[in-house]
Amino acid sequence: MKSSFRIKVLPYFSFVILSINVFHYMMAQPKGYNYDESKVPDYQLPLLLRADSGKKISSRDEWKSIRRPEILHHLEQEVYGKNEIPLEQIKVQTSLIESGDTEYGTRKQYRIVFSSKYKEVVLNALVYLPKTIKKPVPLFLGLNFRGNHTVSPDKEIIITKAWVRPGKGIINNCATEDGRGTSSSRWDIQQILSNGYGLVTAYYGEIDPDFDDNFKNGIYELLGSNRKQKPDSGGSIDAWAWGLSRLVDFIHTQPAFDKNRIIVLGHSRLGKTALWAGAKDQRIALVISNNSGCGGAAISRRCFGETIKRINTSFPHWFCKNYSKYNEQEDKCIVDQHSLLSLIAPRPLYVASASEDLWADPYGEYLSIKETIKVYQLYGYKFDKYWSEDIEHKVNPGTSYTGKIGYHLRKGKHDVTSWDWEKFIQFAEYNFSKLN
Ligand code: GCU
Repeated sequence: MKSSFRIKVLPYFSFVILSINVFHYMMAQPKGYNYDESKVPDYQLPLLLRADSGKKISSRDEWKSIRRPEILHHLEQEVYGKNEIPLEQIKVQTSLIESGDTEYGTRKQYRIVFSSKYKEVVLNALVYLPKTIKKPVPLFLGLNFRGNHTVSPDKEIIITKAWVRPGKGIINNCATEDGRGTSSSRWDIQQILSNGYGLVTAYYGEIDPDFDDNFKNGIYELLGSNRKQKPDSGGSIDAWAWGLSRLVDFIHTQPAFDKNRIIVLGHSRLGKTALWAGAKDQRIALVISNNSGCGGAAISRRCFGETIKRINTSFPHWFCKNYSKYNEQEDKCIVDQHSLLSLIAPRPLYVASASEDLWADPYGEYLSIKETIKVYQLYGYKFDKYWSEDIEHKVNPGTSYTGKIGYHLRKGKHDVTSWDWEKFIQFAEYNFSKLN
């Protein structure tokens, strides 16, 4: 390298790289929030094994009949809201509109139409099945952020007509050809199919577009325009979770899928959604949240990274209105996020964090899943030693735990990578092998 090049160009180049990194850091970790473990306030978590009446919960029957319904009710009332779609009045029509072979397996595309007396809502499901199927296959079900065509460069995938958030390949909130495959690094279809799993995905914005319009569009249209949002009416996370359950209904009609091995997973806001769907819909056999953070797996009382006030301010449509009562009042809420995770028990639960994703509070996610052990123990599960070791404010990046519940801390930023998928599949294999 010529020295003049080095002198003139490299400082500029390093400056650009540094600026990009600083920009990413600022975006990923907005200023004015706590990222310092020593500044986490003292807090007490709501007790999982103590009923509202004060009664101690000491058996799985008491958990199932008393405490679990209480916690579910509190989460509906104070956090995510109640779903108001009258399922019995909704007509559902499903049609296969396309299918073909790909390098790794078969692709099928379904159009699912929900109609009420007011409106129709269309949800496009993209399905991949492994090449050879000898018996019904287990599958991953997850919503995607920018349309089915972003999960793979596959030219046959239908481009969504729904509203999409700004991003690559999006013009005036409409998806275009340029977006094809732009999220493929987050969906390791080859690894999924070659391990014998199927994949079902759909675009979350077809269920409810992700902006605040006072709950008028998406599935809220099924309820008619005169409906009023109540303080405990479901928000968008609840709507997306409703969509996941409708996809579970669809999977139940497909002979290629093993209905007892449905895995629901999601990243970030869709990780929050996966947890809420898993909490409510017990047909979901295994739940995975990836970097779900505030309102997902992370303990809100820690006030580390994103806070309840910030999430309710930036995304006023995600939760029910009641949730704003806990802006800067985290300790007044009758539940915290470990309460959400506890509702997955005794089904396998996996929480995935990333070491640079401080906004989502990786350590708070770890503490939250660790807290649920108490509920799994009611079901007789013995836990590996690593959960009882007192890890002082840290889990080493690269660590992963697999068992009835699992956790990993990937090195790196807020994202979903093939490394994450490898761990998800190992976790599913471990737990599903015990189902036989
Ligand atoms: C924002 C938001 C998070 C959310 C994330 C995402 O960063 O503050 O709560 O998880 O977006 O969904 O991408």
